[in-house]
Amino acid sequence: MFEKDLLQDQVIVVTGGGSGLGRSMAERFASLGARLVLCSRRLEVVERAAEEIEASTGSEVLGLSCDVRELDQVEGVVTRAVERFGRVTGLVNNAAGNFLAQTETLSSNAFKTVVDIVLNGTFHATLACGRQMIEQGGGTVLSIATTYAWTGSAFVVPSACAKAGVVAMTRSLAVEWARYGVRCNAIAPGPFPTEGAFSRLMPPGVEEAALRKIPLRRFGDHEELANLASYLMSPGSGYVNGEIVTIDGGEWLNGGEFNHFTSLPDEQIDGMFEQLRAATRRR
Ligand code: COA
Repeated sequence: MFEKDLLQDQVIVVTGGGSGLGRSMAERFASLGARLVLCSRRLEVVERAAEEIEASTGSEVLGLSCDVRELDQVEGVVTRAVERFGRVTGLVNNAAGNFLAQTETLSSNAFKTVVDIVLNGTFHATLACGRQMIEQGGGTVLSIATTYAWTGSAFVVPSACAKAGVVAMTRSLAVEWARYGVRCNAIAPGPFPTEGAFSRLMPPGVEEAALRKIPLRRFGDHEELANLASYLMSPGSGYVNGEIVTIDGGEWLNGGEFNHFTSLPDEQIDGMFEQLRAATRRR
């Protein structure tokens, strides 16, 4: 769906880029000509991903170990990226941490751990890459949010709070850094199967119920998210700034009062509505 060299002049840092959605986005960026710096806490995972993406796409990919909770580690990544590629034109804030828990059972450290990775980590990477982009005269920051950043969600309170902060940061910096040519956007994905997320967030036996909540009745394909991310990282989206783009098959809108009728067979819906019409006509 894109020109082959869409991201040719770009150098993109992807946090959590060694696996899951981060890796899928990275692969797509590289196939569109971008050079990449992938970082992850697990060096062996990110080095393997870098080698495999280089081999399959021919783009240069550097894999580095980095814990986004530590600002100096993210600054080190930016230094290495500039040494190797001369600049950083894009950042994807993808690294995250999450688990399901009843909130009243959480320790203060459990809350802090998720907020440190998701919110502070996103701030650290945005700050380190943003300073470099400002010096260079522009760039693009893309953060991975979630739809429950605005609806909230039971059982993932630390993540909901942190992602709400990421949305606020995106909108704030979209205005503040526009004058430096730095655009800030976010993607709010619904459920996309990954080992990391599904092993933590999809207990056995609830997959059918999760699918029923999604109007399109399926989970997302990684390629669909990677295409959206590629568009938002490309010059073609140059006037999109401060936007949170939802990609969830319509899931978050499905709380509407009567939406649950959609899970019934058509004849039953027709019959029900006809009964109501007949009853109100008689009045
Ligand atoms: N329920 C309740 N508390 C939990 C928990 C769970 N499932 N998992 C961890 N915690 C608590 C721990 O008990 C600890 O608190 P304590 O010191 O008061 O006991 C605190 O959270 C930190 O846990 P720890 O395992 O030391 O942190 P970590 O930095 O090694 O791991 C996580 C961070 C917990 C977020 C881990 O799941 C992780 O590394 N995730 C990364 C990938 C990921 O989550 N991907 C999914 C994205 S959707």
